[in-house]
Amino acid sequence: MELLTSVNRPRICKILSVQNESATMKTFEFADDECSAATAGQFIMLWIPGVDEFPLSLSNIKSGSVSVTVKPWAEGSNSLYKMRTGELIGVRGPYGRGFQLKGRSAALVGGGTGIAPLIPLAEALLSEDREVTLLLAAKTRSELPFLAKATKLMDFDKGELILTTDDGSIGVKGQAPKTLNSLMGKKKIDMVYVCGPEFMMQKVVQLSIARGIEVQASLERIMKCAIGLCGSCCVGDLILCRDGPVLDSHELIKVEDELGLLTRDKSGRISSL
Ligand SMILES: Cc1cc2nc3c(=O)[nH]c(=O)nc-3n(C[C@H](O)[C@H](O)[C@H](O)COP(=O)(O)OP(=O)(O)OC[C@H]3O[C@@H](n4cnc5c(N)ncnc54)[C@H](O)[C@@H]3O)c2cc1C
Ligand code: FES
Repeated sequence: MELLTSVNRPRICKILSVQNESATMKTFEFADDECSAATAGQFIMLWIPGVDEFPLSLSNIKSGSVSVTVKPWAEGSNSLYKMRTGELIGVRGPYGRGFQLKGRSAALVGGGTGIAPLIPLAEALLSEDREVTLLLAAKTRSELPFLAKATKLMDFDKGELILTTDDGSIGVKGQAPKTLNSLMGKKKIDMVYVCGPEFMMQKVVQLSIARGIEVQASLERIMKCAIGLCGSCCVGDLILCRDGPVLDSHELIKVEDELGLLTRDKSGRISSL
């Protein structure tokens, strides 16, 4: 493996803009040529000196600039969440295998921060004239990110936007897998993409496989090196930072004993989710 490629060298980037994406998420825009060449579903390692380095999906991929969208959890994400336009971040990547563009009519199912990589994926699928149903899920209306962008993006013959919230404050009341199940009964879907909480992905994967529909899921696990060396991101026999983060139906079947059930902590110990 060539470790000293430009992708692996940390670049220092200035934050060009910060936007509130929902009540609990912010989007940070920066310019970086390597990231502008990324495909939907790839991720970067974002470094905040003296704090942490952690993986984030690219939520916007354009030639002049790219974005990441974050929800504050602990040290790293809290620290990024407080940063402002003009401040500096370190960036490595893009890394991993993103989504493969397949099928004529795709359903994209996203929950919470898992919606981030689905926005550039929807753009890529629509640019190839494929049908896209974007199903976005959150606990409540104020936590649904990318509403304005998703509404604009899906405002075409080939696009449909479906919202679901646990409390019914906007869209269908209930959880995304149930809404996907009824969608599959009404519309011909031949490809499912999912990213979000692992219990949600587990249900979407099971549902798709049971109906014989191909599925790709983007998994979020602890990642440290992002270049396949440290082993912190192992799922089954797969090294997620290198073989994923997007897994296809065959790979998902291989890791079904872990998906939505088991994870690894920061020391690599397996524990239940
Ligand atoms: C490929 C990939 C893409 C990712 N993309 C995004 C993204 O676009 N936006 C984003 O906000 N996050 C994303 N994440 C998750 C992100 O890397 C973590 O949120 C990050 O590690 C947070 O660092 P921290 O220091 O704040 O929390 P940590 O110290 O890493 O975690 C503290 C605690 O919070 C829990 N936790 C952290 N993040 C999450 C989460 N997202 N969901 C549930 N529990 C969590 C951990 O299990 C841990 O117990 C992605 C992860 C991967 C692997
Ligand atoms: S994060 Fe180190 S092997 Fe994947």
